[in-house]
Amino acid sequence: MCRIFTDLFAYLWRLEHAVVMSVIEVAPLEHIRRERSSVKWTRFPADVLPLFVAEMDYPLAPQIVATLVQRVQASDTGYLDGPGPLAPVFTQFALQRWGWQVDPSHVHLATDVSVGIVEALRLAVPAGGRVAITPPVYPPFYELVEEAAASVLETPLIELADSWALDLAGLERSFATGVAAFLLCNPHNPHGIVWERSTLEALARLAAQYDVFVISDEIHAPLTHPGTTFTPFAPLALAAGARAVTVTSASKGWNIAGLKCALVIAADDATNELLNRLPEEVACRTSILGLHANIAAFGCTDWLDTAIDHIVANDSLLAELLYEHLPAVIYHRPRASYLAWLDLRQLGLGDNPYQRILNDARVALNNGESFGLGGVGFARLNLACSPDTLREAVARIAALVARVQAASAAFPTAAAG
Ligand SMILES: Cc1ncc(COP(=O)(O)O)c(C=O)c1O
Repeated sequence: MCRIFTDLFAYLWRLEHAVVMSVIEVAPLEHIRRERSSVKWTRFPADVLPLFVAEMDYPLAPQIVATLVQRVQASDTGYLDGPGPLAPVFTQFALQRWGWQVDPSHVHLATDVSVGIVEALRLAVPAGGRVAITPPVYPPFYELVEEAAASVLETPLIELADSWALDLAGLERSFATGVAAFLLCNPHNPHGIVWERSTLEALARLAAQYDVFVISDEIHAPLTHPGTTFTPFAPLALAAGARAVTVTSASKGWNIAGLKCALVIAADDATNELLNRLPEEVACRTSILGLHANIAAFGCTDWLDTAIDHIVANDSLLAELLYEHLPAVIYHRPRASYLAWLDLRQLGLGDNPYQRILNDARVALNNGESFGLGGVGFARLNLACSPDTLREAVARIAALVARVQAASAAFPTAAAG
């Protein structure tokens, strides 16, 4: 009993502390490594700085912790058969945050965003059908399409001087060849691009014209940075007469991927009819703890906004650090989420800078190559860490580059391996 009161007191103190200070305290790396067992902390030896997988180093929002503790103490750990109270909570969040009016009866449940995508593809794409994607993009998109017994058609992003664009003409050509579905990443991982409304409107018109089913993965949308407007795809699809679903979750915004709960939302009535045919098991395999954590998350925007402030500060810090210590790296700043897509092609570390940085600087990024066409020579860095971690990562990479430059000056023929 005494322990319960101590825990409750500690929790209330943390809650008050977090709200009053409007900061998220990031524990030292050794502490996080001791406490957590996720892939970020177990894949590499302890001397490697883990800046790869999209998990945050921040502690959970106190409201989510309290909800989970409460649900477990109530032995509320059974099965689900639908989104229940999550639908109106998400509806409210989407309206307040983006002005998107979601019909709560169009909200369906899935184990996670990946499962939501696979199940939507299974319903909308005939076996052997083709699904367009726009690399470089979130690597599992390739596997998810395969899992749905379909095949990928790549229409790479167009690299501009200071950004990337969707290749709308290329997508139209793909759509015209009878593509069944398009997997949109909105905002786009790994670049952190928040697509312009006009781009999405043009896309919706193309989808309607060629009857291509669009799946919009909006998992990173809650993390849109201040000053940027995120546009949900569903209302545009509805206006254009295109069939579409949105798949989303609190899993990225509030760092609860392990809790396994996502939403699949139909843009239109016909698509809702389709989603009504989702196997019952899809909702049943969703975690009840994940559902309650999502309800708590979409209700606690204070924590989300504070997390975004930390990410934006780290984005500025990274830009400064690169300018000072690694000027050969090209960094186009993200407008959403905490992923930094770095062009390392001029760094002098050879064809696979990711591997060189992992082996010799002991910093784990994500290999750009795994994001598909256009990713070679790039790497993705996770900004949701403490500023000190970021400083240390840049210092280690800069030291490696300096060593390589010194070696190639001394032995020109054995330059960058
Ligand atoms: C664009 C995108 N979609 C889906 C996921 C995976 O989501 P989930 O863990 O809910 O399947 C991620 C994870 O980082 C992601 O970046």
